[in-house]
Amino acid sequence: LRIVLIGPPGAGKGTQAPKLVEKYNAAHLSTGDMLRSQIAKGSELGLEAKKIMDKGGLVSDEIMVNMIKDELTNNPACKNGFILDGFPRTIPQAEKLDQMLAEQGTPLQRAVELKVDDDLLVSRITGRLIHPASGRSYHKLFNPPKVDMIDDITGEPLIQRSDDNEDALKKRLAGYHAQTEPIVDFYKKSGIWSGVDASQPPATVWDEILKALN
Ligand code: AP5
Ligand code: ZN
Repeated sequence: LRIVLIGPPGAGKGTQAPKLVEKYNAAHLSTGDMLRSQIAKGSELGLEAKKIMDKGGLVSDEIMVNMIKDELTNNPACKNGFILDGFPRTIPQAEKLDQMLAEQGTPLQRAVELKVDDDLLVSRITGRLIHPASGRSYHKLFNPPKVDMIDDITGEPLIQRSDDNEDALKKRLAGYHAQTEPIVDFYKKSGIWSGVDASQPPATVWDEILKALN
């Protein structure tokens, strides 16, 4: 399976992607998780990216395209396909991705848009907890861990993302509407777009994603 998940911050990309990974044995390529792991390592790229991410901006197309190119060519897990989460996020990124995949003879099969109105996203984002090492996410109210502030699987502590505050979220949403939403039309034109109502509970969203893939 080779698909893209598109949606605003808090739409559920990172919640649904691991379920697709499990079902289709594909790789989860989350550019947000990749950048956060660079930050955790303290790399030069990570330090630069952190400044941009904390303000809710976008890292440059060039850096992001190279990051995905590297994954697609060198990550053996991509052999069985991939779930792109957070990439592409601009028209130039979408064009570069099409080009790369055309060269490999493995074009995208679907672009699934997770649609949610902005007003629902504030509570999702401000209540989110993540397990930094895996990128697994929980929610204080909507999807609480079994033990308060502890990851169900590893027993390690959960944290809040440093860009999960109302100020940065406003900028991330504005950026989504201005720079990312145009890729919805891009994929509608190429005939691989499907839309899902992602304001519903996670299990319902999951069912709709499966329908969109069939
Ligand atoms: P990224 O990590 O991709 O952040 P994002 O796009 O803002 O998306 P989120 O991770 O916030 O949302 P999600 O849809 O994954 O939500 P989740 O499933 O966790 O990127 C971060 C930053 O990195 C960017 O701002 C940018 O600076 C940079 N960057 C990354 N990629 C880039 C690129 N390609 N180009 C340039 N810059 C890039 O769910 C959220 C919460 O809601 C969770 O708590 C969850 O439990 C809960 N929840 C999920 N679904 C439901 C539901 N159906 N009902 C109720 N609660 C739900
Ligand atoms: Zn995410």
